[in-house]
Amino acid sequence: MPNYRIAPSILSANFATLGREITDVLASGADIIHFDVMDNHYVPNLTIGPLVCEAIRPLTDAIIDVHLMVKPVDRIIPDFAKAGANIITFHPEGSEHIDRTLGLIKECGCKAGLVFNPGTSLNYLDHVMDKLDMILIMSVNPGFGGQKFIPEALNKLRAARKRIDEFGRDIMLEIDGGVKIDNIAEIARAGADTFVAGSAVYGAGKDSDPHRYDTVIAALRAELAKV
Ligand code: DX5
Ligand code: ZN
Repeated sequence: MPNYRIAPSILSANFATLGREITDVLASGADIIHFDVMDNHYVPNLTIGPLVCEAIRPLTDAIIDVHLMVKPVDRIIPDFAKAGANIITFHPEGSEHIDRTLGLIKECGCKAGLVFNPGTSLNYLDHVMDKLDMILIMSVNPGFGGQKFIPEALNKLRAARKRIDEFGRDIMLEIDGGVKIDNIAEIARAGADTFVAGSAVYGAGKDSDPHRYDTVIAALRAELAKV
């Protein structure tokens, strides 16, 4: 079985108690914290920046996976590196010079990744595979949590998995958007190894027992065990 990683998106957490939301989800078995940065320009929503990343960094040694939905993207990258980000991913549409932006992320000491919107071609991978630590396939159009999974993303995952296998180096393949208990196994079969889940995880703790995420994370893992 591949080394599957579950990455709750704090976009769906309760921001009034964000620190506890993060420590609770990690104590419940999450592997990675997915940190969605939206700029009200590249995407029609505005979220959190480096100050919040810096504030949560002392709470955990877990990987903070910063997903930049920002245009232009370069200026903010060193700030996130200083704030303790481990992985920084960006959309090709957010950069004038993709190779340079990937190099900048590496120079700042972080792992680097490219993000593909539902309508964005994987051809952007053609000449930069050697610079990538992660490929992130969006299964919704970016900007909001709680959207429905777009099934075409499965074909794209299969194509990305093929490229990674042919390249022959370990590159994380992450999926983001609409991941739930009832589709995570199918998504894993298509080749993903890292699963962002926002509303599925944080939504599960909202009603009855806030801050309790062990049941939903165990259910996601049980589905992955069937793959
Ligand atoms: C969307 C974000 C996602 C989002 C996922 O633009 O990048 O990370 O929070 O949320 P769910 O899992 O609710 O689709
Ligand atoms: Zn995201």
